[in-house]
Amino acid sequence: MKSSKSLKSPPAPLFQSGERNEVQLRHLFQSSGRAGVSHLETEVILSHVLGISRAMIRARPEQIMNSEDQKRFNSLIYRRLQKEPLAYILEEKEFWSLSLQVNSDVLIPRPETEILVEAVLQRLPDEPGIQILDLGTGSGAIALALAVERPHWQIIATDKSSDALAVAIENAKKLAVTNVKFLCGDWFSPLLERPIHQRLFHAVVSNPPYVSADDFNLNQNELQFEPEQALIAGESGFQDLRQIVTQASDFLVSKAWLFLEHGYNQREQVLFLLRKCGFIETHDLKDLAGLDRVAIGQKL
Ligand SMILES: C[S@@+](CC[C@H](N)C(=O)[O-])C[C@H]1O[C@@H](n2cnc3c(N)ncnc32)[C@H](O)[C@@H]1O
Repeated sequence: MKSSKSLKSPPAPLFQSGERNEVQLRHLFQSSGRAGVSHLETEVILSHVLGISRAMIRARPEQIMNSEDQKRFNSLIYRRLQKEPLAYILEEKEFWSLSLQVNSDVLIPRPETEILVEAVLQRLPDEPGIQILDLGTGSGAIALALAVERPHWQIIATDKSSDALAVAIENAKKLAVTNVKFLCGDWFSPLLERPIHQRLFHAVVSNPPYVSADDFNLNQNELQFEPEQALIAGESGFQDLRQIVTQASDFLVSKAWLFLEHGYNQREQVLFLLRKCGFIETHDLKDLAGLDRVAIGQKL
């Protein structure tokens, strides 16, 4: 996890300083390719460092890179060689056509979460007065996508990480979104200070942590760079989903909806719990890879 990602030694330069002060872009492609970074990723990193489009990079392979930019390029390529996700290196990820700022305090928004956004937009009326609660907002991905699509809705987005909320608030500012309010705390708890009529919603949405603590994937791939508290939900991976499902009814008006992203193997568990807690119309949506991903239920 986060703690294991600190770099143990300084970046090894692709070119030794003094050896080649002036380097053409095409040589950088060759050297990073030899080191194991794909052509596409090198192109994206170069575009980020030089502040020019990828098309321009392709059109100018002979362009010289100055030594300052080379140093920056080397350090970013080095991070990629350590398997750090490109989104953290570039500090940016696209979600629902929005460019979101990300850093290691937040989960990198995933394309499968767009299924959840789409489901919410399809089921709730595009009318003023609709109140939505996004639990565990991270970078703000779900809340901001809904807010941009439905500027008349009022959205509350919570997270227990104040560092994550700082990223979400920055993203809201950058997108000039004004209909999301951010609250810090454990799941529903920040709402308890509000008057009862301000803590009832037409939908509660969440992409909570749902990986079990002993999931071997955690240490084997890019997940190790993401915040532990965004991924792990106790030993079973079901702790947070269970808490949200069992408490959600108290925060929903009659006929309101609950939308939950979950792990590919948690469909039956989530649907069973939703029914046990009195939700009707329960069903599940698959992601683009055909995996069970989003559980939906309606309060009676
Ligand atoms: C899987 S990430 C989802 C982030 C974002 N919603 C998305 O879809 O990209 C889960 C988020 O839940 C937050 N979280 C974890 N435990 C929490 C808790 N007990 N109360 C509130 N938020 C929590 C994490 O900090 C993290 O931002």
